[in-house]
Amino acid sequence: MGKSSVYNSDVIRSAIVPVAGYGTRLLPATKSQPKEMLPVARKPIVQYVAEELAANGVRQILFITGRNKSSIENHFDSDPELLRILKSANKRDLLQELEFEDLEVKYLYTRQRQQMGLGDAVLCGENFAGEEPFVVALGDSILGLHAQSRSVSRMADLFVSRRASCVIAVEEVPIEETRHYGIVHASDGEGDSDTYRVLNLIEKPRPEEAPSNLAIAGRYIFSPLIFDMIRRITPDARGEIQLTDAIRMMCEEGKRILAVKLPPGEKRYDIGNFPSYFETFVEFALADPVYGAGFRTSLERLLEDKTRQALK
Ligand code: G1P
Repeated sequence: MGKSSVYNSDVIRSAIVPVAGYGTRLLPATKSQPKEMLPVARKPIVQYVAEELAANGVRQILFITGRNKSSIENHFDSDPELLRILKSANKRDLLQELEFEDLEVKYLYTRQRQQMGLGDAVLCGENFAGEEPFVVALGDSILGLHAQSRSVSRMADLFVSRRASCVIAVEEVPIEETRHYGIVHASDGEGDSDTYRVLNLIEKPRPEEAPSNLAIAGRYIFSPLIFDMIRRITPDARGEIQLTDAIRMMCEEGKRILAVKLPPGEKRYDIGNFPSYFETFVEFALADPVYGAGFRTSLERLLEDKTRQALK
């Protein structure tokens, strides 16, 4: 019987959130601040991630940080001076904006000393996870508009009920884009139409080598077995220890790995490059309950002006 079969809780309380990457694709914006702190509409990206995890039952988050990431820690810490100023000025609406500080989540931080890949970053959370299953949520991906996603809870249910060693969220991507993602080779037959048994995984394959167009979508649930696998795999050609390779080793050892497709309408917003960052910002700003309608009007006016100028 696999180690995962001993878990009886249907809620997974711990999450590891890797935020150590340099964010080079977003330079110069990320020269001295983490990409995870860039705002999408009114909040920094990492706040959406923490709120999503809290809404899915997570009660402690370990951020795997690196150099230049201290603003993440500051963001989740309370600031008594700011509170005092806002209270004395009776700025209730602004005080409401700080309510995320009261999320029922304990935050912990550790540093990945050298950038040796996502697998190595996750390995930094071994003591934190202990003997319990845990979530890995990539700090540069938001699930669902305004992070309303309940996918992590669904994945946790499947992890326990199907006695899996790993559950991965996946999304369909255009086949010509497989080189940006971990791609899974999956078979049906896991009962639900959105759930697959994973047979193999390849990190960033060329389209002609990709076994499917199902891409790993930035959320995972693992049994602590993954740490052994990470320790045993060899680094890739760039010297990075890939999490995808460690999951493949689990697969090869016969462990049950499941993939769950994100529900229709639940987009994954990837903030790792400028085109998708711009698009995400605009989509979230348009959906803002206070400023969305006004922003739509300005955007429409701007687009009309540009179209008119282009036609001149
Ligand atoms: C990472 C993972 C990859 C996954 C992607 C998006 O790649 O290694 O398997 O598909 O996130 O969740 P990165 O975007 O960090 O290069």
